[in-house]
Amino acid sequence: MPRYSFQLNGENVTVDVEEGVRLLWVLRDVLGVTGPKYGCGINVCKACTSHINGKAFNPCAVPVDAIKATDEVTTIEGLADTVPGDGLHPMQDAWLEQDVVQCGYCQPGQIMAAVDLVERVQGEGRAITDDDLDSIRNVCRCGTYSRIRDAVRTGEKLMR
Ligand code: FES
Ligand code: FES
Repeated sequence: MPRYSFQLNGENVTVDVEEGVRLLWVLRDVLGVTGPKYGCGINVCKACTSHINGKAFNPCAVPVDAIKATDEVTTIEGLADTVPGDGLHPMQDAWLEQDVVQCGYCQPGQIMAAVDLVERVQGEGRAITDDDLDSIRNVCRCGTYSRIRDAVRTGEKLMR
């Protein structure tokens, strides 16, 4: 069976899986990293949103053979370690402050999308807008959208 290596949450990992297996199943079923959720498997619901080389992506849509050994994949499990200190990532603190979560299923993906959005906006040297918030396409069946928007704005302040 082919062997693939990449960086996952700061550690080098190697897996033996068939070519073409989507990364989400490698993360969840082979490596036991279940923060990225399975919702649709076709890059629509965004429940699996994680980061690759610091940018949001959807591992349900990426075959494992498209991942290079030097690629750095970060899931919600590793997000806090991307910032200094022993605590949570500021966006996770914002989520707690706004008490966003209902069932929780979509929330790892929501947070990973939010971090990517705020980093992009701050990289452009501007404040987040309603249009930016509208651009988050992650589905929440519990309808926590207004609290998500409040939390992203809170997170934006905490990430300054
Ligand atoms: S499970 Fe990846 S986008 Fe839906
Ligand atoms: S909190 Fe339940 S799906 Fe979003």
